[in-house]
Amino acid sequence: MDHAVSGFSKLSKEEKIHWIAREYFSGSDSIISLLKNYWNTDSALQKLHDEFIENTITNFYLPLGVAPNFVINGRKYTLPMAIEESSVVAAAAKSAKFWASRGGFKATVLSTEKIGQVHFIFNGDAKKLQDFFAQIKPQLIADTEPITKNMQKRGGGILEIELRSQTHKLANYYQLHATFETKDSMGANFINSCLEQFAKTFKAAAQEYQAFTEAEKNIEIVMSILSNYVPNCLVRAEVSCPIAELADKKIEDPQHFAEKFIRAVTIAQVEPHRAVTHNKGIMNGIDAVVLATGNDFRAIEAGIHAYASKNGHYTSLSHAAIENGIFKFWIEIPLALGTVGGLTSLHPLVKFSLEMLEKPSAHELMQIVAVAGLAQNFAALRSLTTTGIQEGHMKMHLNNILNQFEATAEERQQIKNHFKDHVVSHAGVVDFIKHLRQNL
Ligand code: MEV
Repeated sequence: MDHAVSGFSKLSKEEKIHWIAREYFSGSDSIISLLKNYWNTDSALQKLHDEFIENTITNFYLPLGVAPNFVINGRKYTLPMAIEESSVVAAAAKSAKFWASRGGFKATVLSTEKIGQVHFIFNGDAKKLQDFFAQIKPQLIADTEPITKNMQKRGGGILEIELRSQTHKLANYYQLHATFETKDSMGANFINSCLEQFAKTFKAAAQEYQAFTEAEKNIEIVMSILSNYVPNCLVRAEVSCPIAELADKKIEDPQHFAEKFIRAVTIAQVEPHRAVTHNKGIMNGIDAVVLATGNDFRAIEAGIHAYASKNGHYTSLSHAAIENGIFKFWIEIPLALGTVGGLTSLHPLVKFSLEMLEKPSAHELMQIVAVAGLAQNFAALRSLTTTGIQEGHMKMHLNNILNQFEATAEERQQIKNHFKDHVVSHAGVVDFIKHLRQNL
């Protein structure tokens, strides 16, 4: 079978599921039931989710967990986290609790500028293009008035438009490089609409520009799109305390801990293999809150990783130091987030998450998300440099294995008791379950 189909999007959801069952599962009823089991019984709620994307056939669950006890700029928060990895929420909650009694997290928004570009090809005299741009710039702004009116009322809008030559990278390649303030919205639709209007105005005006030759009048607009690289939409989150205060159950020698922790961060700063994993741990916290609050985690991922390589090599997003006996740990990352628009008022669980965060502005959400990343990184490095990561991971993984074997409540108790003081491994747990069951 070649599985080709035409007009698939026009089929009903039921028809789509039957087509998939027929094509890939020999018409299996159990596949149809599996997909339908995940439909919501509330048909209005289901319809809402069906319409988020094209060709929806069912829902794909991710757990939504919460990490309480975060103190950020003196205020208490419970963070919503949508994530499948078993140890992430527990690690965030642990970090939150640890720092709550040591002054909490401090976070500051450093800048909020978003970027969009019209990429075009101009085959001609660069000086003439500059003169044309200077003349047309007010028109570019004026023509976007209907798009920018509401945003301006909220204190946002277009900040600047520049003509940038990129001809040293690609022959005849130029950009209109525009910057925007989008207040509480992420701003993708706003920015893209402005850019498409810039492109229209720019192309039409070029055709009328007397000083251009016929070839020069024929500017080719290649594309108009926002950039997810936003190095001037930055937030900083940090924790600090006197070294002695780092002491707790797992940190008997705080001076040694602080020094080893800093060494671990330094390794991530100088060695890209480690940096990628180090930053992945940071993204565990960031993505989970970004997803729960209805933001675009792919945009955030792309922008943050680009920022991690801004100096020409991929490096750690976090930093640590000891200054005058004070341990300091901080992160600085670009985050273009929104708390209005997009999914924020559509998805009931996104609405719930934002309400639980007491309706943050985009500024506040930037701070919260940066803190989630720093907290996650602290938890990972603290485990890695003390007990090792597997102790916590395997304890969480134990639950997954027990579910896989449909362990009874009694079996769970016996297994958990046994593994309190035995190293958890997949094979070890499986053997123990089999052993228990054989002895029944
Ligand atoms: C696992 O999801 C994340 C860690 O690998 C992060 C790190 O190594 O820093 C534990």
